[in-house]
Amino acid sequence: MGRIVVIGSINMDIVSIMDRLPKPGETVFGKELQYIPGGKGANQAVAACRLGGKVEMIGRVGSDEFGQALRNFLKGEGIGIKKVNYTKGTPTGTAMVWINGSSQNSIVVMSGSNGKVTERDAIDLGLKEDDIVVSQFEIPNDTIFAAFKEAKSKGARTVLNLAPAVNCPSELLALADYMILNEHEAAFFSGSELAGDLDTVKRYAKKLQTRADQAVIITMGAEGAFCGRGAEEVRVEGVKVNAVDTTAAGDCFTGAFAVALSEHKSLTDSLGFANRAAAISVQRIGASSSLPTRKEMDAAIGKP
Ligand code: RIB
Repeated sequence: MGRIVVIGSINMDIVSIMDRLPKPGETVFGKELQYIPGGKGANQAVAACRLGGKVEMIGRVGSDEFGQALRNFLKGEGIGIKKVNYTKGTPTGTAMVWINGSSQNSIVVMSGSNGKVTERDAIDLGLKEDDIVVSQFEIPNDTIFAAFKEAKSKGARTVLNLAPAVNCPSELLALADYMILNEHEAAFFSGSELAGDLDTVKRYAKKLQTRADQAVIITMGAEGAFCGRGAEEVRVEGVKVNAVDTTAAGDCFTGAFAVALSEHKSLTDSLGFANRAAAISVQRIGASSSLPTRKEMDAAIGKP
């Protein structure tokens, strides 16, 4: 089994739980405040590690309390952190996460040290053919580009989670072997209106594909996921669960998918595995706090 090398963001999530989200200009009372390790990159690394992957994280934290706590947290999870460096003079990334009683959330990310993950951090990763490089859009595009270029030159596979929805050059998308995004992101990247039906999702996938062997995976929340790769189409049905918080569901899906790939599962089985993992994560509050272990996944097989 190859390594899963995640290059991406590391945040401290400052999570407020409230009955309803405030409207602009409004003040509401919250019910609970929690500090939970997060950041899309770190969440994907934690998901992959808890599910049995051999994971290495590449990223940056500030020389502050959050930075130290997050480094220790990742290490405690069993993730390789030799390349999680401190950046002096820039604070650790943070995210203000608001969750309401209907499992909806609003998130504001302050990038901090994530914006300082450079192309130099992304090279000399000692990649081998069996390795998988995973990234997302909370670090600079040039850095992801350098990491994926290095991965391709070594024959390693690349997984790009197109989140959050921000502009990026098509040359970067072309370096991804697997793109993972939700319907909102798919509408953004394909320059279309959001429409929740399967035919539209299939059209998004076609539009986003830059080469025939590239898999475009669009997650559809409770409706499961769709993947288009050339003429191949795979659809996995949603798992019916009682969702309380969808924060990091996409990260869980991405990390789990990378594990399944590293175990050489088929595309269909990899999508099913990722879909089931994400269904567990939405039943719990928070980012890293919601990510399942392999034991939980095995216990949940057949039991939604
Ligand atoms: O995908 C969820 C993550 O987005 C949160 O953990 C938060 O840090 C933001 O990066």
